[in-house]
Amino acid sequence: MKRTKTVAVMGLFIVMLVALTAANPLPKRNLRVLPKDIPEKTLDSIMKQFNKGLGVACNFCHVRLHDQTDSLHYASDNEPMKITARKMLRMTIEINRKSFWTDKTKKPHELNEVDCYTCHKGEAWIESGR
Ligand code: HEC
Ligand code: HEC
Repeated sequence: MKRTKTVAVMGLFIVMLVALTAANPLPKRNLRVLPKDIPEKTLDSIMKQFNKGLGVACNFCHVRLHDQTDSLHYASDNEPMKITARKMLRMTIEINRKSFWTDKTKKPHELNEVDCYTCHKGEAWIESGR
């Protein structure tokens, strides 16, 4: 009797967990440096610039979504390389803002006098381990 009850409680718990997960889909954005309302296209071209600058693919900084091999959980910060990249992005924006902000119609994150490629030259120096 006690056992049935335990199983029932566990079953209910799982149902609740599934319902919660469904009600809370993974966030799409978790931007800390770039403007939160940055257009999708601009974000995409900045990310492609990262790939080119470091000679890597998106999964260098973004973790896989659960057990799937083909989709990445972009908003997750559970990848140290993404944290490093965020610091690098902040630094790069600062360099441009301080030294190359001649065109005031642009926002600092839109300046690219200095970008990842300027220093990295299409190569990551540290392997991601994946
Ligand atoms: C060198 C590391 C790096 C690479 C490579 C990279 N990203 Fe990112 N990505 C980041 C960082 C850092 C952020 C968060 C920026 C911020 O906080 O403003 C981000 C944010 C994002 C976001 C929004 C989610 C969030 O965290 O706010 C998407 C979507 C995304 N990247 C897609 C891509 C795609 C698609 C590619 C490949 C074309 C890619 N990224 C390659 C580092 C990287
Ligand atoms: C002013 C030069 C400079 C710029 C610009 C720059 N980086 Fe870096 N980056 C470095 C240096 C130097 C290191 C190595 C630091 C170390 O070894 O401790 C590094 C390390 C990294 C790493 C750790 C992995 C590796 O290859 O060593 C990542 C990820 C990274 N940078 C991403 C970026 C991204 C993304 C951008 C563009 C937003 C960028 N960096 C722009 C100089 C730069």
